[in-house]
Amino acid sequence: MVGCQRGGVTAGSSASPSRVQTVASDNGRLIFQTGRNRDGKQIVAAEPPLRPSCEACHGANGAGGIHRPGGAVSADLRHDALVVGQKHPYNLALLERAVTTGVDNDGQLLNPVMPHWRVSQRDLHDVATYVLTRLK
Ligand code: HEC
Repeated sequence: MVGCQRGGVTAGSSASPSRVQTVASDNGRLIFQTGRNRDGKQIVAAEPPLRPSCEACHGANGAGGIHRPGGAVSADLRHDALVVGQKHPYNLALLERAVTTGVDNDGQLLNPVMPHWRVSQRDLHDVATYVLTRLK
């Protein structure tokens, strides 16, 4: 899948597929919870974000509902909200687009309090995968 390669894992690498999977999901969780990737690097956005991590705005379980300046309320990122009953359910590509450009699954611009993140392809893939598969 395009956009799904993980840097540093080359053909013939000794890392087993399951090991790679574990590292990737750990990285997604770290970014969501702490705003730092597994190399300890703070994620950044186009404009300085009001909070450093996804969790700081969306809550530890991704349930959202946290009020932010200017009347913005953070979105619920759990499966029932992003996928179930949506006209255009979020998938990985739509989620990655929302995280980087603030365009939602229906093509609407989100409130700019939701940062437009500038992260590596690996970090984007990992955090989007975490949101889609781990927040219940
Ligand atoms: C400064 C607070 C803040 C931070 C930090 C933040 N968000 Fe958001 N996010 C919001 C708000 C507020 C909304 C709702 C915007 C709206 O309603 O238009 C939102 C919406 C979203 C949406 C759209 C959901 C939908 O229903 O369409 C996704 C996906 C999302 N955020 C993912 C993330 C991820 C992943 C991170 C971390 C990389 C993150 N957010 C960090 C505030 C934040």
